[in-house]
Amino acid sequence: MNWIQVIAENELPPNERKVVKVENRSILLVHHNNKIYALENSCPHMKLPLKKGKITEEGAIVCPFHRSAFDLNTGNPTEWITFPPGINKLMGLVSQEKAIAVFPTRVENGNILIGV
Ligand code: FES
Repeated sequence: MNWIQVIAENELPPNERKVVKVENRSILLVHHNNKIYALENSCPHMKLPLKKGKITEEGAIVCPFHRSAFDLNTGNPTEWITFPPGINKLMGLVSQEKAIAVFPTRVENGNILIGV
């Protein structure tokens, strides 16, 4: 695994998020509950960005488009296409649940690094 320095720790205050490019991937950094998460900024349903997704009390990010939700720690889906109501009956049949990629993070000398 390569550890890549992305931004300074103070560029991502608590409850903030930021998108960075790493090796041609769009990665969403989220500072939530005193932890920094790094995840693919692309919902596996239609490849739309997750940056504006809400974060649930259980620690999942909810896609702002059709409200699939993904665990910030594992990237596994906790919900799949729940909006608008009934859409999963149509789209769920043609769209298998998929996880998003998540990456380990660490802070070193005031900088955030992610492992890819
Ligand atoms: S694009 Fe995310 S659930 Fe449809």
